[in-house]
Amino acid sequence: MKTYELQNTTIWSFPDRGNWATHKGDYRGNWSPHIPKNLILKYTKQNDIVLDCFVGSGTTLIESKLLNRNSIGIDINNNAINITKKRLNFTCNNKAKTHLYLGDAQNLNMLSDNSIDFICTHPPYSNIIKYSKNIQNDISNLEYTEFLLHMDQVAKELYRVLKPSHYCSFMIGDIRKKGNVIPLGFLTMQTFINNSFTLKEIIIKEQHNCKSTSYWSNRANNLGFYLLAHEYIFVLYK
Ligand SMILES: C[S@@+](CC[C@H](N)C(=O)[O-])C[C@H]1O[C@@H](n2cnc3c(N)ncnc32)[C@H](O)[C@@H]1O
Repeated sequence: MKTYELQNTTIWSFPDRGNWATHKGDYRGNWSPHIPKNLILKYTKQNDIVLDCFVGSGTTLIESKLLNRNSIGIDINNNAINITKKRLNFTCNNKAKTHLYLGDAQNLNMLSDNSIDFICTHPPYSNIIKYSKNIQNDISNLEYTEFLLHMDQVAKELYRVLKPSHYCSFMIGDIRKKGNVIPLGFLTMQTFINNSFTLKEIIIKEQHNCKSTSYWSNRANNLGFYLLAHEYIFVLYK
């Protein structure tokens, strides 16, 4: 069997997003399984506990199961929890355990202080994709200034539950409003630093397969701006 080649620079690109096991690209804005796979292999060992507090369609939990890491997934939206449950319904030889909670990343009271080995998560990018219409505390409905206040609370909770001397990673992209760039990635990163995390890595991830590409490329041409075609993966340390 071909060995999996881990990324070793700060620029990542996965033109072939990956569709092994039960991975599928149909949950809007989901991430390529190559991302959690690389991060989990680098920052954890077997039987560790991985937390994804914005679990979506469960990509991180599927990878955790395949790699024999225990995992905890949380999402504010029952639809995400149900999709994740279905996608975790496959057999493999590993004994890792998975727990799913319908809940809010801003209030992880189901988790004890200093109990998580690694955080690997992917919040909404403010209100670029709205995952629900009226679920309270769904931060995908928030304008970026409000979004950042909520991410500050998420960062506080993540710092509380992570074990000392362990890592926290998340992916996020910038946004454009009225032709101007809002550096949502760095602004969100700063909320983590403000909550005592130390910044270890800034990884640039090339964006592929953006569904609205032809609409946006015409619009970008007409209005004279570049298409945003990268996201950031931040790795922080407690
Ligand atoms: C970018 S998606 C995650 C996609 C995931 N990485 C995947 O591969 O499927 C962000 C998720 O955050 C969830 N979300 C929004 N606000 C939340 C909150 N306050 N607490 C927990 N989850 C939340 C949304 O329901 C959505 O499923």
